[in-house]
Amino acid sequence: MSKFFALIPAAGSGSRMANELPKQYLLLNNKPMIYHAIDTLYRNRFIIRVFVILAPYDNEWHKHDWSAFSEKLTVLNCGGITRAESVLNALTTAKQKNLVGADDWILVHDAARPCLTSVQLDKLINELTGDEIGGLLAVPVADTLKRSNSEDRVAHTESRENLWQAQTPQMFRYDLLTKALHNSVHINVTDDASAVEALGLQPKLVVSDAYNFKVTYPQDLALAELIIQKRNNP
Ligand code: CTP
Ligand code: MG
Repeated sequence: MSKFFALIPAAGSGSRMANELPKQYLLLNNKPMIYHAIDTLYRNRFIIRVFVILAPYDNEWHKHDWSAFSEKLTVLNCGGITRAESVLNALTTAKQKNLVGADDWILVHDAARPCLTSVQLDKLINELTGDEIGGLLAVPVADTLKRSNSEDRVAHTESRENLWQAQTPQMFRYDLLTKALHNSVHINVTDDASAVEALGLQPKLVVSDAYNFKVTYPQDLALAELIIQKRNNP
C-alpha cells in the first residue's frame, strides 16, 4: 500500500515580501507562518511524516518550539537555489535515508500557504488516491485577464475560459515526481505540476478556494492573519 508524505519547501528568501526575515518565519497569530502549514498537514490522518526543507544556512528554525509536531516531523537542511531544486534535493535525501518508497504519494505544500484547511486537504487526497498521475489544488480564474504591451497598456483581453490558478498541495507519486523534476532542471518550473506536464502528462485539477492563497507581498500577511484569527475565534 502506498503511504502519504508531506513535503514543505521552506528554503526561499521571500524577496517579494521585502522583509529581512524569510517570510516563512514572519509571525501570524504569534506563530511563524510555516507553523500553520505544518499543523494542517501534521493533523491529517493519512500523512505519516512531514518533511520540512530548510536552506542549509537557515538561522531561524531553531529559535522556535516545534515540539507539538515531534512525532512525525523531519527537518532536512538541503534547500537549493530554486523551489524545484529544494524539492528534488529533499526527495533524494528522503530516499537515501530509506524513508520513502517509489509508489508513495508525496504532497508538496508551500510554507507560504498558511491558510490551507483540512477540508481542502482531505478533498485532494480523496480525489487523487486512485489517480494514475496525481494533481493539485487549484481555483478557476475569476478576474478578467489583460495582456499588456511594453508600456503597460492593454494589448488585448485574454479569455479566462479553462484557466486556473495553481495552488498547493500538489500530489504525485515519488518516482514520477523525482523523474519530472530531474527532467526539468534546465526549465524554469515554479511548481511541481509543471515538471510533470513537461513529461507530457496531465495532472488533475482539484477545485479549491481563494482562502488557500500564497503569502507573497506584504499586504498578504494581514489578510492571512485575519483568516487565521477568524478561524480561531469563530
Ligand atoms: N522555496 C524553497 N527553495 C527555494 C525557493 C523557494 O524551498 N530556493 C519555497 C519557499 O520557501 C516557499 C515556496 O517555495 O515556501 C514557494 O515559493 P515562493 O512563494 O516564491 O517563496 P520565495 O521564493 O521565498 O519568495 P520570493 O519568490 O518572493 O523570493
Ligand atoms: Mg520564489
